[in-house]
Amino acid sequence: MKDLVSASLLGCDLADLKNEIKSIEKAGADWLHCDVMDGVFVNNISFGTPVLKCVRKAASVPMDTHLMITDPIRYIDDYAELGSDNITFHLEAASDPQAVIDKIHSHGISAGISIKPGTPVSEVKPYLGSVDMVLVMTVEPGFGGQKFVADTLEKISEIRYILDSMGRTEVNIEVDGGVNGETVKLCREAGANVFVSGSYIFGAEDRVAAVGSLK
Ligand code: DX5
Ligand code: ZN
Repeated sequence: MKDLVSASLLGCDLADLKNEIKSIEKAGADWLHCDVMDGVFVNNISFGTPVLKCVRKAASVPMDTHLMITDPIRYIDDYAELGSDNITFHLEAASDPQAVIDKIHSHGISAGISIKPGTPVSEVKPYLGSVDMVLVMTVEPGFGGQKFVADTLEKISEIRYILDSMGRTEVNIEVDGGVNGETVKLCREAGANVFVSGSYIFGAEDRVAAVGSLK
């Protein structure tokens, strides 16, 4: 399965968004990871549809939208219509996760489901037959620049094992939080293939080398 790097815009210089997008695309990022936070599901508030509409215009690569918001079904239409190629929502934030997956699919785009470090695999298992991606958070969601939580690696292996036994080898497993040139190796070994990175790649002096070190 192909390794992909999804650059988290939370780690860039937001005052220079357009140039930052161009720079990270040139450095080899495959997707742009857009973290939407509502100040309720997570403590932080980041950005929403007006900003993502501008991102879509400035970007050439697929937009990987990560909704860290309560009751995400309310906003699926908005984030799909502005041009997201994938929408990931949190299992913990949805009262009917299957309905959210179906709504994302009704727009003909990829559906991702995410779990926080403390959420067991058993809770996401019922949805592994219908999602296109599973996002295993490797930090508590809410902020960039945190330390990688190694306990999450076991969950990645378990999810990959279940997906393989279902014959769903095409499903992406994405990791997000504290991913760098070292922790990426552990994630890949465990079975992840999409690597979100914010502070590591945007903070690097040589962004080409930093993105390259994740593949
Ligand atoms: C955190 C966000 C991440 C964040 C990752 O809740 O979901 O995407 O930007 O940042 P780094 O790579 O700096 O840990
Ligand atoms: Zn994210």
